[in-house]
Amino acid sequence: MIGKILEKLRRSAPAVTPELERRIRRSFDESSADEEHFPSTIDPRIYHVQLLLRFFGSLENGRALDVGCGKGRFARVFAGEWPTARITATDISTAMLAYVQPPLQACAATMTTLPFRDGVFDAVYATESLEHAVDIERAVAEMCRVTRPGGKVAVIDKNAEHWGKLKTPEWERWFHRRELEKLLGRHCRKVDSQFISYWEDVPPDGMFIAWLAEK
Ligand SMILES: C[S@@+](CC[C@H](N)C(=O)[O-])C[C@H]1O[C@@H](n2cnc3c(N)ncnc32)[C@H](O)[C@@H]1O
Repeated sequence: MIGKILEKLRRSAPAVTPELERRIRRSFDESSADEEHFPSTIDPRIYHVQLLLRFFGSLENGRALDVGCGKGRFARVFAGEWPTARITATDISTAMLAYVQPPLQACAATMTTLPFRDGVFDAVYATESLEHAVDIERAVAEMCRVTRPGGKVAVIDKNAEHWGKLKTPEWERWFHRRELEKLLGRHCRKVDSQFISYWEDVPPDGMFIAWLAEK
């Protein structure tokens, strides 16, 4: 079943052409002015934040990478929690990155070609950004490549079973739980996933999934 989904994904995925990449970048550059839908801050009590904090643990003197960081709302909370960590935030949109200020390190890059050496990060995560990568297999491989052995990789994104419930651009993809588990499992020795909601005491409605992996 999952093999078939991955095969279908491979055949139906549009190629990441320079033209498509330009269109995606332009679209998010424009969206950066929309603070309501692309916020620069996040309430740290939101479970998406709390789950990542608990999963990564203390990152004292460690290095973390936010992939497709947008305006850096997650990275900013983590910088407050881990004052001695070096946190790098990457995004394809320079207009989004304009919101990412020190102590965060901003870096313009596409998640399918991350400009970092192998194994340099202790923690790597992507929140609602992998869905825009187009070449999902390559983006997952890149996230895992730059994670050190024993380091942690997390993805929070939307469930393919809820596809159609929100308006989406034509390049966006949502994921089946097992599908991303399998992709992460190619590079990581432990992979788990769970449905999550915004608040810990509210049962998940199935829209969001967190995939948590250890390399
Ligand atoms: C919905 S926003 C999420 C931003 C952020 N992770 C958050 O949770 O606030 C998606 C982000 O992914 C970025 N993005 C889209 N395609 C990308 C790519 N190929 N490489 C890097 N970033 C990308 C967009 O520019 C945008 O900032």
